[in-house]
Amino acid sequence: MAPTPGARARNGKTGLDFNTTKGGLLKLPIYLDNHATTRVDPRVVEAMLPFFGEDYGNAASHNHVFGWRAEAAVEIAREELASAIGAADPHEIIFTSGATESDNLAIRGATPQGGHVVTVATEHPAVLDTCEDLARRGAAISVLPVDSKGIVDPERVARAITERTALVSVMAANSEIGVLQRLEEIGRICRERGVLFHTDAAQAVGKIPLDVEAMGIDLLSISAHKLYGPKGVGALLVRRRRSDGRRLRLLPQLRGGGHERGLRSGTLPVPLIVGFGRAVSLCVAEMDAEAKRLLRLRARMLERLSESLPGVFLNGHPERRLPGNLNLSFADVEADALISDLKEVAVSTGSACSSAKPETSHVLRALGYDETRVRSSIRLGLGRFTTAEEIEVASDALIAAVAAQRARRGGTRPWP
Ligand SMILES: Cc1ncc(COP(=O)(O)O)c(C=O)c1O
Repeated sequence: MAPTPGARARNGKTGLDFNTTKGGLLKLPIYLDNHATTRVDPRVVEAMLPFFGEDYGNAASHNHVFGWRAEAAVEIAREELASAIGAADPHEIIFTSGATESDNLAIRGATPQGGHVVTVATEHPAVLDTCEDLARRGAAISVLPVDSKGIVDPERVARAITERTALVSVMAANSEIGVLQRLEEIGRICRERGVLFHTDAAQAVGKIPLDVEAMGIDLLSISAHKLYGPKGVGALLVRRRRSDGRRLRLLPQLRGGGHERGLRSGTLPVPLIVGFGRAVSLCVAEMDAEAKRLLRLRARMLERLSESLPGVFLNGHPERRLPGNLNLSFADVEADALISDLKEVAVSTGSACSSAKPETSHVLRALGYDETRVRSSIRLGLGRFTTAEEIEVASDALIAAVAAQRARRGGTRPWP
């Protein structure tokens, strides 16, 4: 007998398949990993296409119309990005290849030999590994703890700042638990103490309101592929002046033709930059309505799971988090086995960016959880293309997979 489409998808033999649900057609598997990356919005693809075709000029070619058109398109994108984060001067936006490069440029570029950096235990590896490398080269690094909900106390940041501190780096929104840090208070402290403030906002830009002026942010990392734009392009906001009026000096990490105010040499990827600008504008225009929609879907999923299963625990702050983020622990469940059983739903245990490393989540460990709880946790990332019907089908699949694993293990024991 031929397998049903749903069974074929579960067997992992077909990438995309159909499943009949309540009279509708649904594509499988359902994508709930929008923190790892997002689908490029069709409106973004459309904006990019001419720049792969007839408008193929180099934005640094100043002698002809091909170059002028490319440059004009890049400058529009720069304005779109600056406006999305409240930067008054579009030339404070420096294009890079992504948030990893932006984090490296901010941290390496702002920390002199023997300088001191203050950061947080739940940061992305693009920040933590960069700091670790600087420490091997003689820098002093303070890695601050978070509370059990994932928040760093701004007072702790204040206490960690010394005469040698060059930079404070605290992320805007966490990539695993979606927790939002208290940027405005940290920015005020940095301003008062004359220290540069960098925030990795790869998960936050386009999802929550950000205002670099009001928040006292000097350096801010962005990634296009987290906000329905293309992979391979990002930006670093580099304010021209520090809060005390002195020039903000950053050491370039890539040398060459002196592009991007001399801070990041290399020919600009014009089609990607155009898509990045369009993507961020769409996010800003749709932010309020989309946040409300995602909050409803998330609440529905949590309600379904909690009603149907005992031993479901939310990781991270219940309210101070991205609207599309759920990070859950399931008592008596091995998350890795759960994820491989769950063929209809694409979810993950944590950051895709650190998946080359076999360790369990450093973020959940920083919240004080033991290995059993950390190993029973999954991250669910809802996004622009997630539908209400998908949430119902994904909830059914998750409930069934958790129950099946528990039955194999002989039931649920009291936990944690
Ligand atoms: C918070 C954060 N910072 C940095 C990165 C790296 O971004 P990119 O893939 O653009 O290098 C990610 C990607 O997961 C992220 O979530």
